[in-house]
Amino acid sequence: MRSSRPASRPSFDAGAGESTFAAANAAYYSTFLIPVLSVSATTITFQFSDGQPAQTHVAASGESVLDVALNNGIQLQHNCGGVCGCSTCHVYINAGGDDLPEISDKEEDFIDRAENPRINSRLACQCVVEKDMQLVVTIPPQHFLGH
Ligand code: FES
Repeated sequence: MRSSRPASRPSFDAGAGESTFAAANAAYYSTFLIPVLSVSATTITFQFSDGQPAQTHVAASGESVLDVALNNGIQLQHNCGGVCGCSTCHVYINAGGDDLPEISDKEEDFIDRAENPRINSRLACQCVVEKDMQLVVTIPPQHFLGH
């Protein structure tokens, strides 16, 4: 029977002892290991006030929370088209908010007009992500008539 292992793989020699065998194995396999690159990504976990199960999606740097929601079929109103001209894309940032861009006066004004604004309220179109962010966002009920 033919082995798929290379001929030079260490074999256990009862006379050499287990620690020698383990060291030989470690040296052998370390030459064949492919370095694993650390790849991190930005993720957004969407939670829903209406009880839908949460969803987590990867976001590219430069995308807004609104972009990621819409690209993944998540209903989130956006009456002004994402230009900070309404309050319909209002969301709650439960985690990762400190990594987001500063809130502008204009965004704050529109948040004040949203339904049930809270201290962690943001407009999803203004929450542009960069790499290595982990956000948790709650989507409020979407049954209202936007303004
Ligand atoms: S879609 Fe209007 S402010 Fe975000």
